[in-house]
Amino acid sequence: MQKYLVVLRDIHKDFGIPELLSVFSLVNRSLNRCKSLEESFANSICSASAHLETEKKNTKPNIFYFANFQSDHEAFLVGSRCVLVRAIIRLWSYAPSHELCLKQLQSLGKDTFKELLKSESESFRCKLFSYGRKYSQSETVDRINFYSSILQQFPGKINLKDFRHEIWIVEDSFPTTGHTNNPNRTDLPRQVFVGLLVAQGCADKVQTYTLKKRNFIGTTSMDAELSFLMANFALADKSKLILDPFVGTASILISCAAFGAKTIGSDLSFTVLKGKSDDENILSNFRQYRLPEPLGIVRCDILHNPWRHDTLVCSNRNFDSCGWLDAIVADLPYGVRESSREFVGEKLHSKFVLNHIPKTARVGLEHLVSSLFEFAASSLVKEGRLVFWLPCTDEFSEHDKSNICHPSFRLIAACRQIVTRRFHRILFVLERKEWNDDPMEDRTGTFYNQSPFYKDFAAKLFREEQRKEVDLWKKGPSRRIE
Ligand SMILES: C[S@@+](CC[C@H](N)C(=O)[O-])C[C@H]1O[C@@H](n2cnc3c(N)ncnc32)[C@H](O)[C@@H]1O
Repeated sequence: MQKYLVVLRDIHKDFGIPELLSVFSLVNRSLNRCKSLEESFANSICSASAHLETEKKNTKPNIFYFANFQSDHEAFLVGSRCVLVRAIIRLWSYAPSHELCLKQLQSLGKDTFKELLKSESESFRCKLFSYGRKYSQSETVDRINFYSSILQQFPGKINLKDFRHEIWIVEDSFPTTGHTNNPNRTDLPRQVFVGLLVAQGCADKVQTYTLKKRNFIGTTSMDAELSFLMANFALADKSKLILDPFVGTASILISCAAFGAKTIGSDLSFTVLKGKSDDENILSNFRQYRLPEPLGIVRCDILHNPWRHDTLVCSNRNFDSCGWLDAIVADLPYGVRESSREFVGEKLHSKFVLNHIPKTARVGLEHLVSSLFEFAASSLVKEGRLVFWLPCTDEFSEHDKSNICHPSFRLIAACRQIVTRRFHRILFVLERKEWNDDPMEDRTGTFYNQSPFYKDFAAKLFREEQRKEVDLWKKGPSRRIE
């Protein structure tokens, strides 16, 4: 076991560690290793700033974590799949100042640097990464030169463009008071880390798949960053079959397919499934990135879906072969930009049924959620994942997470994204339990909550906005202008 520094990107801070844990599970499972390794990896993660006095009162985002990996290769496999990992560094030293860090490095045996000491062909470069402070070119060079007594020990040549190894000097300089961009700042770094870069996250993938250049998008297309996060939570890889029952423009499935998964999509809206033209539709999105097209795109309502329900198939108690989907990913319609709808039954003569497009009517989001759970419980394989968003207001608390529980699932993560001050949403990640763990009757529709936090969400959100507006009007014209 080696100690590594995980540097997260400074966005979606609720999602970083859960994503790292999910990707570790994916790597661990694909290597057919023992499940207990996932638990010991999770236990090894701790904040690298937790010991700092200032951190105890500080609510500013932490992006530095320590974690134990078995090898550089393992750290590479995990780190290079994560959207929110900026870098994983094999730690050589860390201390509260550059001086102490250099002292520690000088006291280390040559074994520590053995890859870099092998031969002259092991070219390398050194990089300064500073969090919370910007340095000019000459200040950066000064800081790197401070470590020259160590860097000179390596026989390899420094090559800034074509290098084999990258040494990272990481400075955590988040100011204890005031702004990061204050030019007169004098405070010293809170801590310094030095080590060898072993992995960088997959932020470049997000650039490639950005919605800005996507062929076919809609008003609720999921952005590439969050879609890739969902694909990681769904443990997407080439052995997986993943379905999105609210597929829309298929942004989430595109990320799953980019990781090699086979995909299926369904949606109730005929307009979205048809697309704008032959060159601007769901399939053209897959063609744009040369990804394999979905195995199928089906028009159906989640409330009356045609998919196989293994609750019946497994009544012979052959639980090992239960389930046919590895993951379900979903962004449900919250009723703000997209309304939740269901097919309304019409009695038709059989000769009209084939080409008939049924009418739809509004339905509460809570009904879609309970159908989603019923469908997921009867179609996911053991340890298959259900990854979906639900909207909430800023009043959502830890306690409300208990709204999302079902006898067939265990909760893996619930991460909050703040969309606006009042409009938040939670990404829920659940895992299918063993099929024989839950009583048979629990798999069918027991998920029903009288007043879940997401019920009538749009009304709650807009009622509050209207109330505020009325309050402003009551305060008179001068207040309105403000
Ligand atoms: C938030 S959008 C999904 C957007 C999609 N993730 C994307 O990236 O484009 C929700 C979708 O759910 C669909 N929908 C609404 N009610 C449905 C139902 N009962 N069954 C299936 N799909 C439904 C809507 O037509 C809409 O396309």
